Amino acid sequence: MVAKLMHAVVYGGSVGGAVGLKHVEVEIPTPSKDEVLIKLEAATLNPVDWKAYQLKALLRPFLARNSPLIPCTDVAGEVVEVGSQVKNFKVGDKVVSILSLLKGGGLSEYAVAKEILTVFRPPEVSAAEGASLPVAGLTAHMALTQFIGLDLTGKDPHHKNILVTAASGGVGQYAVQLAKLGGAHVTATCGARNLELVKSLGADEVLDYKTPEGAALKSPSGRKYDAVGNLKEDGVVVDLTPGPAAMWTYAVKRITCSGKKLKPLMLIPKDDVGLKFLVELVKEGKLKTVIDSRHCLGDAEVAWSKGIAGHATGKIIVEP
Ligand SMILES: NC(=O)c1ccc[n+]([C@@H]2O[C@H](COP(=O)([O-])OP(=O)(O)OC[C@H]3O[C@@H](n4cnc5c(N)ncnc54)[C@H](OP(=O)(O)O)[C@@H]3O)[C@@H](O)[C@H]2O)c1
Repeated sequence: MVAKLMHAVVYGGSVGGAVGLKHVEVEIPTPSKDEVLIKLEAATLNPVDWKAYQLKALLRPFLARNSPLIPCTDVAGEVVEVGSQVKNFKVGDKVVSILSLLKGGGLSEYAVAKEILTVFRPPEVSAAEGASLPVAGLTAHMALTQFIGLDLTGKDPHHKNILVTAASGGVGQYAVQLAKLGGAHVTATCGARNLELVKSLGADEVLDYKTPEGAALKSPSGRKYDAVGNLKEDGVVVDLTPGPAAMWTYAVKRITCSGKKLKPLMLIPKDDVGLKFLVELVKEGKLKTVIDSRHCLGDAEVAWSKGIAGHATGKIIVEP
């Protein structure tokens, strides 16, 4: 039987930047027993996509043979085939999924997703809004609920003071809105051009990160974190870009019982609970998505370069 082909964008080697991307025709993947095949309507980019670029190139020999390295994990679309053990989805369902962080697959016309990491997308939630949620929304959600202990129902009488840096970015925009749902007082930093936008998302105080006042709020320790933090003296700093040094500091602080709580966060989604919660908030009009720009799959390099530049306001969308 002749295999059906799809347009996809793959890593073309170990060269960094958009120049490493290649447009190819590859076989449409077949879903495993616990997966669904999705005809994609939108995908969004995250810094993890290009940060993982060279790591994936290095891991290439250990990945499934002949499987192309198609970047991007956050997708929305329509189910066109289901694996033999899939119970909750059928052909024609509109969904949002987070794909395997290792294998990716989003910069293409079709992708396979685990049933357990897939949720229904109601008509009130556009494909672009849905695809914006997985990595950025789940990271903000995880930082606030699991690391900072914020109750997002807003019923906690002890209102927390939360600092959200890079509030105009993918994670930051959701962190500001979720923190407000949790009844927190939100101080945010962003560039001058986005001060009004971040205020409109609900932040109580917004500082231009290029001013001395804004720069001073980067983190209590003066380190430059992409952080969501509780500003009290015994507060928590969530490090979204933990390198080996941060992991080491974290380990040592735990051993020495230091009062300073630096917590490195690494998003590894295991179920659909957080994503369902976020999709529901969007449906109810309680969570908005700022979209930086939309690009067709043929212009994936433009989207990729824009993301790497690090100055997107909200999410960068790629549409097949
Ligand atoms: N650990 C994890 O599991 C995890 C998960 C998701 C994200 N992350 C990390 O979290 C970070 C944020 O991700 P993202 O998707 O939100 O990135 P993003 O969308 O690319 O962030 C871009 C935004 O950040 C703003 N910005 C840049 N430097 C800033 C600074 N010093 N102070 C305040 N704002 C600044 C930019 O504003 P201007 O254009 O005005 O400069 C731009 O609007 C990234 O480092 C990412 O790798 C980690």
